[in-house]
This record gives sequence, structure tokens and C-alpha cells, in this order.
Amino acid sequence: NCTTSKASATRNIAKRLADGGYDAVIFWGSQSGTSERFAEALGRECGTRFGVHALVADLSDFDAESIAEISKDKFAVFILSTYGEGDPSDNTAGLWDWIKKVKENSSAVRELRYLAFGLGNSNYKYYNRVLDVVADAFDASGATALIPRQKADDANGGTEEDFQSWKDDVFALFRGMGYEEKSIKYQPSIKIEFGEGQEAKHTLPVHHQHSATCSTIVPLPIKNARELFTAGDRNCVHLELDLGHSDIGYKTGDHVGIWPSNPDQEVTRLLEALGLQHRRHEAFTVTPLDDSTKPKIPSPTSLDTAFRHHLEICAPVSRKALLDIAQFAPTPEAKALLLSYGQSREQYERLTATMHITLARLLQLAGPSTTWTTLPLSFLFETLQPLQPRYYSISSSSVISPRRIGITALVVNKCIPGTSPSTIHGLTSNYLLSSTRLPSNALPSTHTPSYTHTNLNDATTDGTKILAHVRKSKFKLPITSSTPLILIAAGTGLAPFRAFLTERAKLHSIGKPVGKMLLFFGCRHPSSDYIYESELAKLQSALGDKLEIITAFSREEGKKRMYVQDRVGQESSRVVEMLDQGASLYVCGKAGMAREVDVKIEEAVGAGKGLGEKEVKAWTDGLKKRGKWRADVWG
Ligand code: 2AM
Repeated sequence: NCTTSKASATRNIAKRLADGGYDAVIFWGSQSGTSERFAEALGRECGTRFGVHALVADLSDFDAESIAEISKDKFAVFILSTYGEGDPSDNTAGLWDWIKKVKENSSAVRELRYLAFGLGNSNYKYYNRVLDVVADAFDASGATALIPRQKADDANGGTEEDFQSWKDDVFALFRGMGYEEKSIKYQPSIKIEFGEGQEAKHTLPVHHQHSATCSTIVPLPIKNARELFTAGDRNCVHLELDLGHSDIGYKTGDHVGIWPSNPDQEVTRLLEALGLQHRRHEAFTVTPLDDSTKPKIPSPTSLDTAFRHHLEICAPVSRKALLDIAQFAPTPEAKALLLSYGQSREQYERLTATMHITLARLLQLAGPSTTWTTLPLSFLFETLQPLQPRYYSISSSSVISPRRIGITALVVNKCIPGTSPSTIHGLTSNYLLSSTRLPSNALPSTHTPSYTHTNLNDATTDGTKILAHVRKSKFKLPITSSTPLILIAAGTGLAPFRAFLTERAKLHSIGKPVGKMLLFFGCRHPSSDYIYESELAKLQSALGDKLEIITAFSREEGKKRMYVQDRVGQESSRVVEMLDQGASLYVCGKAGMAREVDVKIEEAVGAGKGLGEKEVKAWTDGLKKRGKWRADVWG
């Protein structure tokens, strides 16, 4: 009942809907694929649950102007992601151009009935701007919003749940529109067959695409691992990946994607809950049952390999997944329990506030002696997300160490008192930590060494290699070494600047002209988490007055809390002056920090030059467009 637009002959969406007898179009505007995944999920449910015949469409497959021609017995759904500086995804470019014209004509889309959902992150300044611009223009130009627009906020990882809530409202609308709801029976899209044979140890992710920006994935040995600091439940490691004779390289400022594997304990817990421990290493094949299905795991494989290397089993289970799993509950009691946890967002949040609900832990709620032999493996392989890489800003310089990638990782162990278990280990950083095989007495007492490292594949027999790929970035030093730099970082945001500064120090040592560098660095305390302090001191003596380091400590006893943006504020006239004289500015760290740094500089520009808000924005946009102001930030 739901089709995708790929094979479309016409670029006129109104014509396509009419010719195909569709009730609706579900457009997605996405770069990283989440909006696309949501659009497809919604499209499928529209068809199977309500008989709403919906076309799922890539926005760039149709001419945006033709949206105005969609007849009023149909409707259009827009699922739109916002990126960086409030920008749309590449495939939204056509809609983005057209929407400016829509805004100017108050009856441009008077026939249009629409629904809109946006994906964004409130840590960023232009939160869900794309959704607001599009929906505001529609509303001002005669369109009818069938339900109010809704926003997903990824700031606290809430995107999945926000989508679920919006979908609940969409389905309530369908019921109100008179669509009859059908109960859905699970139909597998893949066939799983166990057989005789060897365990298959294929550990390379099946969905990674080698592209112009991403290298292939290679197993790389870890070298030079050391702890940068340990303070309470936080610690930070430095390690290097040896590129050796691999055919990949990197450039200063690039990112490295680390492919983690799930801890042994969690794989075991899941297999026990499924009652499948005894088949752990048995080989099985995976066969798609239709042309459009692309399995997320290799074939043949084993349960151990699939759950350890290919699927995200440590992530919290979404409310939607919880409800889907309930249909397979082994007992009526377990089913009722799961349905009660999933019935509303509040109930679900009550559950997740008291425990980190991985798939295995969810299944264990049915009771220790109950096994989920009723839960089809095909269902799990279809619904679990494929294991994703986690990106780190490379902390080494490709000029100084072309075959060694430096990683600076904060080991994430979130401690939530009163929950079970109270410590939640961040998957990848702990994986890195365990891979470095630090002596256990170097670990904080809260760390349970649950990350038994297994061989990644036959080629990595020493057990200290990890899978990684390099992703190109635009966070690059100016070509001319005499260009002054303003570098602003908090915490591990220092990583790329360690690379920048060592590279500049090298150039300086061989007599190249090097521009003035102003480094703002923020951490909690000078004696706890001031990473690379001694290296910075050496760089300082090598670079002399070319380098000035300005620190901000947020938790120094007896002193006022200082954040980097406060220091930037104090030095703002100098910063603006340097920018006017051609300096390049770089910010690295959490998005919230970067946003506040922006505010400080914008305030200074406004006050110093006597500019209004719009002119200030034009001034900063100008710098950003010319690559003189770059940010490498994370949510
Ligand atoms: P805090 O932990 O004391 O709040 C590295 O983590 C440093 O960044 C710490 O000093 C941390 O302070 C600080 N930090 C946290 N939130 C920040 C924000 N919004 N802007 C700037 N620095 C921040």
C-alpha cells in the first residue's frame, strides 16, 4: 500500500498522486537518513493500519511548484531535518527556493492540506528552522494544517519518542477522518535458516558506503594509549590508531569513525532472554523475501556475531519498539506489563527514568525464568538499528604523524542514582577504553570491566585492533600559515586544536612565518581535567608570543564559575579586531557552548560596529561563507 517515489516518470507530484490513485504524499528532506526512515515507517503504517495509500517521496524527485496543485481531497506530509546554521538538507533545495515565492503570495497554496514534522536539536541556535520557515509560509499562503506542526528535539536523544508522539496524533487524525483501523499481523521480510556449518565471523558493517567523504573501514592497531585524566566518574583517554600499510590516509581536522562492538555481558543477557544461548555460535543464513529488503546483517552469520558486531543492542528501546515487541510476549502477564509501560509517553518515561532499558533488560521484565522463544529473530533483525560508528575529531596532525590518527575520548559513564544499573556505560568510549587494555588499577572504581574484547576477524588476531574509517571535514587550517587563528574549545573539543598547534609549531621551527594564535580553553579544574596541559606548555615555549592560551575553569574552589564564552566575552574587542584583520576562527566542543560563543561575538560586533541584529548576522554569515569561521560541534 505504500510505495516509494524512485521510479517516478513525472516530476509533477499532483499528477503522480492522481495517476497512482494515492491519498497522500509523505515527503522527506534528510541528509543522514532519519527523516527518510521516519517517512518510510509512517508510509508503511498508513497503508497497513489505515488503508491510507501514501507515496513516500524524496523531495528532490519532484518539482516543488507542483505541490500547489495537489488536490484538496489528498494531503501532503513533510518530514524535514534542520542542520548546522538552520540549513535544509541537500534534497530540500528545490522546496527551499520555492517556499520564498509561496510566502509572497497569500493564496499560493490555498488548496493544500498538510502535516509537518521537523527534526532538530535545541542545543543549536536555529532549532528546527527549516520546519518553521516552510510551515509558516504554507500557513500564510492559504494552506490548511490538519494538525499543528510538531518538532523532534535530539538534544536529549528524544527524536524517536517525539516522532512516536506525533505519529499518535496523525493516527488520531486518521480515525477522525473516518479511516478504519485494522489490526496488523506481523509479516517477516527475511527468512532465517539455521544449518550445519562453520560460524561466520564477518564483522565488517554491511551498510557502510565508501564515498567521496568516507574511506573504507579498516582494522587498525591501537598504539600509545594513555589516560589523560581520571576524576570521579569521568575519565579521558588518548590513543593512536596506526594506519600502517592500510590504504587510507587523513588530513588534519578530519574525523575518525569508530565502529564499536557490544559488550559480552549484553550479548549474553540477550541470548539468555531469548532462550538461545545454546545456538550462540551456530551458523544461519538470512534471505530477503522481497526485492526491496536489504538485511542489516551479513549472511551467513551467527547470533553471537550479529548481536555483537552488527546491531545496536545497548541502545534504549523506544516506546514504539516496546509496543511492537509486546505482541510477541511469551505470557499474557508479560504482554500486559509491556503494554502498560508503552501506553503513554508518561508511563514510558517513568520506566526509563528508573532503568536503562536495553532490549535484553526489557525482555527480562517478563521474569527471570521466562524466555522469549515466541519473539521471531527475523523481527529483531528487522527492527534493531544497525550498529553505527561514533565520530571523533582527530587530535593529531597529518603533517607530523601522517600514519597515526590521534583520538581524544571522554569515557562516558552516566551515573543516575536510583536507577538499575546506576551506571550507564557509553558504548564506544568504553569500548575504546577496554581496547587500550589499561591496567585495571588505573580505572575508576565505578568501572566494571565488562567489555571483553574479542578478535574482530581473522586478520586481527592480536585483539588490539579496532574497526575505523576516516571522514573528511571542512575543519581545516587556512592555507597560509601566517593567517592568525582564534581557537575556542571546551573539554575534548581541544582535540583538533592540539593538531593545529603542533602543525603550526613545526612550521615555526623550520622558519616559516606563523600567525598569532589565540587559544581559549575551558575545563572544570586546572588540576583535574586540563588535558594535554604539559604538551600545551611545550608548544607555548616553542611558539613564544605567537601563542596565547586563555583558560576558563568552571569548578575551581573559591572562584567564580568561568566558561570559555565568558573569556571570549572579556576579550571580544580583540577577537573582533583579529577577525577584521583576516584571522580565522574555529570552535570545537558541545553545540551549547558554540552557540553561546556565537552570542558573545555577535554582541561585541553589534556594539563595536554599531550594527543591528540583521547586519551582525550578515557579517558573521559572510565570515562563515568564506570559511573564516568554522565549527566542529556535537549535540
Ligand atoms: P561544567 O561541567 O562545570 O558545567 C568541559 O566539559 C568544560 O565545558 C567543563 O568546564 C564544563 O563545565 C564546560 N561546559 C559545560 N557546559 C558548557 C556550556 N554550555 N558552555 C561552555 N562550557 C560549558
